Amino acid sequence: MITLRSAREIEAMRRSGKITAKVLTDLMQAAKPGITTADLDAIAEKGIRDLGGEPTFKGYRGYPASVCTSVNDRVVHGIPGPEVLREGDLLSIDLGTTLEGYVSDSAVTVPVGTVSAQARRLLDVTQECLMLGIEQMRIGNHVGDIGHAVQQHAEANGYGVVRVLVGHGVGTSMHEDPQVPNYGKRGTGAKMRPGLVLAVEPMITQGTHEVKILEDGWTVVTTDGKLAAHFEHTIALTQDGPRILTLRELGEHAEAAKYRPREEAAA
Ligand code: MF3
Ligand code: CO
Repeated sequence: MITLRSAREIEAMRRSGKITAKVLTDLMQAAKPGITTADLDAIAEKGIRDLGGEPTFKGYRGYPASVCTSVNDRVVHGIPGPEVLREGDLLSIDLGTTLEGYVSDSAVTVPVGTVSAQARRLLDVTQECLMLGIEQMRIGNHVGDIGHAVQQHAEANGYGVVRVLVGHGVGTSMHEDPQVPNYGKRGTGAKMRPGLVLAVEPMITQGTHEVKILEDGWTVVTTDGKLAAHFEHTIALTQDGPRILTLRELGEHAEAAKYRPREEAAA
């Protein structure tokens, strides 16, 4: 069952999303060679709590941390620990905040120091996939239109689209209906209406799209050991089109600017 959110609820979700965006920005800047992923987790938890929120991931189905840190061939759900980030790593950072009972969920993949041109291209294309997916969030479009746009762009660039993990509705819980696959056919899935709030989260791979879960029960890796990237935003469908609730002030793709309501653009 899809729950549509009122304007008041969407404002609360934007307040939650601003915390996620701010802390994600701090983590992007902290992700330098020499820092451990456990250090990033500490920054995440303190950052969210200092801003009055709660880390949504912590304790979710027993997940032990406030952020997911997925390096190189790790696609998503990497658990922070003593691992030291090294020059040339690709790091995916995934963060969720609960504020006033409302969840926001967002992820970015960043280069640690300087990365190869191939890694850079994977990042750029994955972020473009996210923006092209968001572009499909129009009243009367179908959820399948999002996945279609993502898959089209990823595969046109020679990349794989992870199938077993999908985006999702977000609201008072992190995972609500509908599921939002990153592949599919135009015109399939639920019709989108105002008040729909989705987490769109393409997971794109350099090689095979096949993944497996490691012994820890969480970490998702590519089966061929090649790189993966992951970008995610929480987006509300309003009468004026898609509004990115986890929009960052810094480090956002230029294309995102057109989904920023006028008063926020001025800020
Ligand atoms: N963005 C991730 C997702 O939607 C966050 C879940 S990580 C967990 O699946 F640890 F909280 F499960
Ligand atoms: Co998510």
